[in-house]
Amino acid sequence: MTIIRTTDPSQAARALLRSRLVILPTETVYGLAARADDAGAVARIYATKGRPADHPLIVHVADYSAAVNNTWAHKSTPLADRLAEGFWPGPLTLVLQRGPRSGDDITGGQDTVAIRVPAHPLARNVLQEMDELDPAGAPHGVAAPSANRFGRVSPTTVHHAINELGDLLADGDLALDGGAASWGVESTIIDARGTEPVLLRPGGVTVADLSAIGMVPRSTSSGADPKVPGALASHYAPEARVIAVSHDADLEAVLAGRLLRSLSTQQQGFIALQTISTPPGWVRLASPESSGEYAHCLYAALRAADERGMGLVVAVAPPPDSGLAEAVIDRLQRASATD
Ligand code: TXA
Ligand code: MG
Repeated sequence: MTIIRTTDPSQAARALLRSRLVILPTETVYGLAARADDAGAVARIYATKGRPADHPLIVHVADYSAAVNNTWAHKSTPLADRLAEGFWPGPLTLVLQRGPRSGDDITGGQDTVAIRVPAHPLARNVLQEMDELDPAGAPHGVAAPSANRFGRVSPTTVHHAINELGDLLADGDLALDGGAASWGVESTIIDARGTEPVLLRPGGVTVADLSAIGMVPRSTSSGADPKVPGALASHYAPEARVIAVSHDADLEAVLAGRLLRSLSTQQQGFIALQTISTPPGWVRLASPESSGEYAHCLYAALRAADERGMGLVVAVAPPPDSGLAEAVIDRLQRASATD
C-alpha cells in the first residue's frame, strides 16, 4: 500500500476528523497521529507501532487554556500556567491530572494525561483547522506518539516515518510532509501537577531554559519509573549495536579491540562532535558542531548506520552544556542499552 503524501494541513485535519491515521510533522520528531477521542483510531496507533497498551500517549492540542478546562486535563495548575506561558507552543509536554475527555486508551489507565501544544506550523494548522471544521468537538486533541515501531529510533523526516510505518498504514491514512524536524529529539516531559516541576524526560526545553524562568526541576530516576515507558532502558535503538562513550572517556582505550573483534566485512560507524577526529577504520556518520546540532542529526545518523548494514556504531557524547547535551546523552544511553 502506497501511503498518500501531502503538504496540505487541511487534508490532514479532515483525515483525522474521519478517524484516519496521519504521519504528522512536529518540531521535535514526526508523530503517528489519531483523533484522541476515537478509541478505534487510537487502537490503530498501538497496533501499528506494536506498542504495549499500557504505555500512555501525548495529546496534542491547539490551545492550552481550552485543553485544561475540564476537557483533556482536569484543570490547570499555577505551575503548568507558568510553563505553558514560557514554552508553548514548543517542545514541552506537561503531565496533569486527567480530564473527562481523556480515555483509558490515552492514559494507559493512569489518572494523569500528557499534553503538548506543538510549535510546528503545519501541526498547529492541523489542530486549529480540526477545531474550525468541527467546533462541536473542540478543543480537539490528537494523540501522537513518535512515528516509529516500538523501541526504535524516532523519525525526523517524513521519509523516515514512511519507511518505518508506511507498509502498516491503510487506505485513507496520510503522511503530511513538514520538512526535517527542527529539534530532532523528543519533547521534554514535566509532571506539572505539584508546585515543583518534576522532569520525567529531558528534551527540547532544557534545564537551562527552565532556570531562565526561575525553575529548578527535580529529576526522577526515570529508569525506575515504569509509568514513563520512553524511560525504559532500551529505547530509541537502531538495529546496529550502539556504544555510547562519555566525552571524557579514553576513546582509544574504548575502541581498542572493538575494530579487530568485530566482523571485518562490516563497516563500523562513528558519531562525535566535529572537534573529535574519526579514528582510522571507522566510518564517520555525523560531525555536529554543537549539542543542538547533535540532537538534530543523531536519529538520521543511526538510521544511516542501519541502511548501510553496519553492525556497530560508536557515539561520543557531547560534554554537558546549557543546550541539548542532556537530551542527547539520555538518548545515546537508551540507544546503547541492551536490556
Ligand atoms: O516530542 C514528542 O514528545 C513526540 C512528538 C510526536 O510530540 N512524541 C513522543 O511520543 O515522543 P512518545 O509516545 O514516543 O513518547 C511519549 C512519552 C512516553 O515515554 C510516555 O510514557 C510518556 O510520554 N507519557 C505519556 N503520558 C504520560 C503520563 N500520563 N504520565 C507520564 N508519562 C507519560
Ligand atoms: Mg517514542
